[in-house]
Amino acid sequence: MTKVLIATEKPFAPAAVAQMSKICEDAGYQVQLLEKYTEKEALLEAVGDAHALIVRSDKVDQQVLEAGRELKIVVRAGAGYDNVDTAYAKEKGICVMNTPGQNSNAVAELAIGLAIFAIRNFFNGTSGGELRGRVLGLHGYGYVARNVHRIARGLGMTVKVYTRYSKAQATSEGLEVTNSLEELYAVSDVVSIHVPARGEHIKSVSMDVLKHLKKGAVLVNTARKEVVNEEELCQFMTERADIKYVSDIAPDCTDRFKQEFEGRYYFTPKKIGAQTAEANLNAGVAATEQIVGFLEKGDATFQVNS
Ligand code: 3PG
Repeated sequence: MTKVLIATEKPFAPAAVAQMSKICEDAGYQVQLLEKYTEKEALLEAVGDAHALIVRSDKVDQQVLEAGRELKIVVRAGAGYDNVDTAYAKEKGICVMNTPGQNSNAVAELAIGLAIFAIRNFFNGTSGGELRGRVLGLHGYGYVARNVHRIARGLGMTVKVYTRYSKAQATSEGLEVTNSLEELYAVSDVVSIHVPARGEHIKSVSMDVLKHLKKGAVLVNTARKEVVNEEELCQFMTERADIKYVSDIAPDCTDRFKQEFEGRYYFTPKKIGAQTAEANLNAGVAATEQIVGFLEKGDATFQVNS
């Protein structure tokens, strides 16, 4: 019997799990749920006889792919698949997919929430600012950024974007695309980062770019910590006491923030961008349906390692 393992260190909402299980049962598959595991050993053991694996940010490295002797497909229920060793999976003939767009509104709402929190001085009672009339710079224009754009327009912000791959999409939505990342950072009151932890995006938020930020700017990161050059960010925040950094991913240098940048930063206690019932349901159900489509009909539409 085909076995689907749902392995989530950070569990989906129960309603999502129920619907995912129903889809599997209807397809004649067996479901195993591994939630809130703290030891990698638990995942290695559970994946042993699984034919399909659904994960979130759970690390699927060579060891996990080796342990999954029967694995045919791994679906990252979400957007960023930097947690999966896609190249090794390809070597082993294992299809890796993500579920693009399914949790993007949740992340976008968090990005806007963090921007408001920062511009209101973290609700500390002092006089803050408003987003209306300010310029929002979108660093990247994937599904999350497009949702942030939609919400920001409603708030009365002017939205600009720097993107290499989605220029046509941005222009068709009436957005001004800046000529460079430096230009985007220079014209924005709030910059929201929306690029994946891959290739040229790694450490792309560096001093060269940061130094162009306007006075009093807010930098919002709901993407990945790897896209920020953290050492240079700290250096920059030391030089520029007017800058605030809010993130859904605590940086490796959190201690330095605590010691030196009190009142100018906020990090969520755990990555929570996609942690809503709606996003869990959308991404979880999409992941399960993609597995059934792949195993039953060979549909590899969302494969990221072909
Ligand atoms: C994603 O890449 O989809 C988001 O960062 C959400 O990640 P999560 O599933 O670990 O919450």
